[in-house]
Amino acid sequence: MLSEQSAPVVRATLPAVGAAIGDITELFYRKLFDAHPELLRDLFNRGNQAIGEQQKALAGSIAAFAGMLLERPDARPDAMLSRIAHKHASLGITSDQYKIVHRHLFAAIAEVLGDAVTPEVAAAWDEVYWLMAHALVAIETRLYQEAEVAEGQVWRRMEIVERREESPDVVSLVLRPADDRPARPFRPGQYVGVRSELPDGSRQIRQYSLSAAPGRPDRRITVKRVHGAGQPDGEVSSWLHATARKGDVLTVSEPFGDLAPADGDGPLLLVSAGIGVTPVLAMLDHLAATGTGRPVTVVHADRTPADHAHRQEQLDLVGALPDARLHLWYEEPGDQAPEASAGLVDIGSLDLPAGLTVYLCGPVPFMRAVRGDLLRRGVPAEAVHYEVFGPDLWLGQQENRRAHGVRRRHPHIAGRR
Ligand SMILES: Cc1cc2nc3c(=O)[nH]c(=O)nc-3n(C[C@H](O)[C@H](O)[C@H](O)COP(=O)(O)OP(=O)(O)OC[C@H]3O[C@@H](n4cnc5c(N)ncnc54)[C@H](O)[C@@H]3O)c2cc1C
Ligand code: HEM
Repeated sequence: MLSEQSAPVVRATLPAVGAAIGDITELFYRKLFDAHPELLRDLFNRGNQAIGEQQKALAGSIAAFAGMLLERPDARPDAMLSRIAHKHASLGITSDQYKIVHRHLFAAIAEVLGDAVTPEVAAAWDEVYWLMAHALVAIETRLYQEAEVAEGQVWRRMEIVERREESPDVVSLVLRPADDRPARPFRPGQYVGVRSELPDGSRQIRQYSLSAAPGRPDRRITVKRVHGAGQPDGEVSSWLHATARKGDVLTVSEPFGDLAPADGDGPLLLVSAGIGVTPVLAMLDHLAATGTGRPVTVVHADRTPADHAHRQEQLDLVGALPDARLHLWYEEPGDQAPEASAGLVDIGSLDLPAGLTVYLCGPVPFMRAVRGDLLRRGVPAEAVHYEVFGPDLWLGQQENRRAHGVRRRHPHIAGRR
């Protein structure tokens, strides 16, 4: 909760901070990386830095947090904090780094807003920053404790024991600890960070959802190669496709992530598009392994059956569940998939049970459209959970979005990951 003296100051200056967030963000990262080039080389995603929009996640979330503190001073935006903290944990962020970010962020704010940043204004925003930072550090500390690692020490060496080509652009890698400590349990829907040591000496980290259930000595990730389509190809996915071979050792974080269905017997709806199938596979595998009888509706969209990674495995897993149905949509079904529908997912055409809990994963426009359709059908917003395969710029905005403002159909999914 913001103090009495800071709340009116933050309220008065939030519009100016919000309006300048693009300039503040740009200057903040410039200052941060000038002082600490190793953070750009080895921690932050260089691709995201090149795409200005995605840079805004960090500073933008502080402005969103300030807005939430003002609107609902007694509530903590737990979903947003938890999502960021899990991502931070998969990167091994430590509490001392918050001072570094603070220094450069506040230097950028002072430079961009100039005289408007009086000592009073600086103190009020300092309070916002540290409220958020302490909340994040508290969650991250708990996550590190649960993973039984020291702060930030999330990395393990894991050997690739199998590599399989799942589709022309997708490989799966089965990983086993290279030391004699067994792999820790995780929850289906969680992801790991993969820290790749690239030819230029940098160590870029990306997250990959675990695509098979917990409970085995191995973990599996499934990686889609990102083609640049006029921009540079994706660094880590291309590097893994080109170089990762059976017997190689990767540096992989402990699993984190908050997209994990609670056990229970209520009906589930699992919806994915493209490579978004990976967390759904782990959930299905887990449901099959635990012999669940709960009703499960599975929806997957892809460009063609050949592009649908783990297609046969998904059919088999759904087939193994006593009360599960699979609905497939392919933009170009060809003649290999008579069970599938042609075109784009139409949630409105499905017969869905009441009391659903929903898990979504795919491109944001796809998830936005599906979520809008579900809200219109009366599914409560809190029953719809999702994972974004990139910075989650959707999180701050979506609670304010009214269902009728969302487009009914998602656009073409061709060419997206
Ligand atoms: C929680 C989570 C789970 C995920 N799970 C999976 C999964 O199961 N499977 C999977 O395949 N992926 C998954 N991802 C996505 C994955 O983490 C990577 O984002 C993805 O592999 C792309 O990484 P990359 O290094 O290949 O691309 P990057 O190098 O990060 O590039 C990303 C984009 O930036 C563009 N770009 C790069 N440089 C520039 C530039 N200079 N100018 C303009 N554009 C540029 C590229 O063209 C590309 O489109 C997940 C992500 C998250 C956050
Ligand atoms: C109060 C302080 C902070 C806030 C509010 C914050 C917020 C965020 C947000 C919103 C994201 C995007 C989450 C997502 O992907 O969905 C993010 C990612 C990230 N954060 Fe933080 N963060 C803070 C502190 C830090 C610190 C101290 C570091 C370490 C130097 C750090 C490093 C990162 C990195 C590396 C990413 C991934 C982004 C990328 O590589 O593109 N953050 N943070």
